[in-house]
Amino acid sequence: MRRLRLALTKGRLEKKSVELFEKMGLDCSEIINKGRRLILPVGDYDAVLAKAADVITYVEHGVCDIGIVGKDTIAESSGEFYEVMDLEIGKCNFALATKKGTDFFGGYNVKRVATKYPAVASAYFESKGMDVQIIKIEGSVELAPLLELTDAIVDIVETGSTLKENGLEVVETIMPISARVIVNVASLKLRKAEIEDFLKALEDAKKK
Ligand code: PRP
Repeated sequence: MRRLRLALTKGRLEKKSVELFEKMGLDCSEIINKGRRLILPVGDYDAVLAKAADVITYVEHGVCDIGIVGKDTIAESSGEFYEVMDLEIGKCNFALATKKGTDFFGGYNVKRVATKYPAVASAYFESKGMDVQIIKIEGSVELAPLLELTDAIVDIVETGSTLKENGLEVVETIMPISARVIVNVASLKLRKAEIEDFLKALEDAKKK
């Protein structure tokens, strides 16, 4: 049987995930010196480095057994997998933000909102019974209200610096985000003991 595969979100979460693996006592020397390699041994596991949305795709299709990915990407996806643990790293919030001093909820015109997360934004406005026009933007969403393409954005706020430095402010916090562990549905049945051992060690590493 192949080694268990762990899909990790490249970038910000990667470093924090590796720190947890080190606390689990796993040999992380290869992933720390990975160069441009994308599949690296971590202890007895194989770590796969992917973009957040692709972590979910690989876990859903069972080519990776376990994934570490932000709740933001999970909230935007409609895939089938188990979300089994909150790692309490990579903490930030989804928020609605506008240019400073804008009365977003005032008036009767249909508002326009830019976001990288259309599903999250739609669900939020639906829960408010509000009809808005969502415009999908791929990055630096803060530009949209500055260019007057939209009245507001729904985006991730971590330190708040990006909003502040661009004259924007939070109108409402939508939901907290942190990194989660996800598991393929079949893997959890077929390789239950191995996966549970990994999760137990990870849970212990969280507390160290
Ligand atoms: C994220 C997010 C905000 C920023 C928030 O963008 O979309 O722009 O970080 O962080 P802050 O509150 O600490 O300033 P990211 O850096 O991932 O780039 P992107 O906008 O190009 O996706």
